[in-house]
Amino acid sequence: MKVVVIGTGHVGLVTCVALAHLGHQVAGTDSDGEKIALLQNGIPPFYEPGLEEHLSEGTASGRLSFHPEINDVVPGAEVVIISVGTPPRVDGEASLFAVERSAREIARHATRPILVAEKSTVPAGTAVRLRAIIERERPDLEFDVVSNPEFLREGRAIQDTLEPDRILVGAETPGAFEAMRRLYAPLIANGVPLIETDVATAELAKHACNAFLALKISFANALARICERAGADVVKVADTMGSDPRIGRAFLDAGLGYGGFCFPKDLSAFERLADKLGWSWPMLTEIARINDDAVGAVADKVVNALWNLEDKRVALLGLAFKPDTDDVRFAPALALAKLLLSEGAHVVGYDPKASANAKAELPDLEISLDPYEAAAGSHCVVLCTEWNEFRALDLPRLKGALAFPIVIDGRNLFDPETMRAHGFTYYPTGRQPVLPDRAAT
Ligand code: UDX
Repeated sequence: MKVVVIGTGHVGLVTCVALAHLGHQVAGTDSDGEKIALLQNGIPPFYEPGLEEHLSEGTASGRLSFHPEINDVVPGAEVVIISVGTPPRVDGEASLFAVERSAREIARHATRPILVAEKSTVPAGTAVRLRAIIERERPDLEFDVVSNPEFLREGRAIQDTLEPDRILVGAETPGAFEAMRRLYAPLIANGVPLIETDVATAELAKHACNAFLALKISFANALARICERAGADVVKVADTMGSDPRIGRAFLDAGLGYGGFCFPKDLSAFERLADKLGWSWPMLTEIARINDDAVGAVADKVVNALWNLEDKRVALLGLAFKPDTDDVRFAPALALAKLLLSEGAHVVGYDPKASANAKAELPDLEISLDPYEAAAGSHCVVLCTEWNEFRALDLPRLKGALAFPIVIDGRNLFDPETMRAHGFTYYPTGRQPVLPDRAAT
């Protein structure tokens, strides 16, 4: 099929390479000319495992190309996927400005019957608006609007797109369902379940999934606060809960909380949608409050361990909002860094991929080239992002570099007994700390 993808961010670009891989003729376009120039030279504008290889595969096959102008690619397209950003407005509502502008451009330039697919996460009711915009702009145009949300995770985006748990399509006509089945035919043939619903249900299901996953994380973080006070172990509580298949173990890891460009903004957009529909849902506010508190709880541990932060140097290991990405948007590590800087600490950070983005977002943060350089002379280390590289840290070397042998584990990456054996003072999350044995020293 001849497919256009508008917006080459994380979701849009991965969609481009995946659909080209499945055999479609894909043209990606973006209002950011610099991004398009990079892509035309085969350079991914962000780090995502496997993306560069898929990008070269697509361009080499002649099935994937990138263009700065929408009007160059929409003529002749059968399917146009809207994958532009829906950033939060001041009140948390999703801004749909770019979505509306895309619909208008599609209507202006379409030259044949066309299927418009929403892939950006949008509030229920957006497709109705899109339909009205396109009709107003081009009363003569034959078109359909479908919702086709993406469930990909950064860091595993290619795999999540080519081997998804399910494909969700919300549509209103048999023709639209049929076209979407053709788009995903190779995946459906491989046994990927296809869920077909009306459009509003698909739009809402995406918000529901993200809100529920965020709820699980915040539940685990609230439990962590209670476990710390009750002398219990949140990892074992989560394991116990997770062994009940009705609950499931995934997304019950307590720590610094969730970040990234999806959960925080989708949660507030979902809450605004509920308000607009006349049913307020304060539970969604509470999820976000517990998430903010998770960063505060780690900051409190730093203060508790070091007392006054002026003249103290704190090393943060991991700056990306999660491993295997260079994305620092809403990263808990940066929220923590801001808190510590505001208390007068000197904050130094190391991340395998996200250092440049972190520095651009927070110029007061000093960047180190490796974890040991970050630790050198620091009064404590805070593990913020559970990169695999940190599992293999040389603990005696880390301890030797530190001014005080204190590790605060914001992701429960380390084993408390190993930390005890290496002589660290160790503060995990929702588990009991390993404190210095005064009698022995
Ligand atoms: C998420 C959804 O998983 C995906 O389906 C959707 O399409 C986009 O949003 P992503 O933001 O890439 O994907 O990351 P994800 O792996 O879901 O993690 C989100 C955040 O939650 C990360 O900051 C992660 O560190 C945190 N997290 C995750 C926890 O704190 N605890 C957990 O148990 C799981």
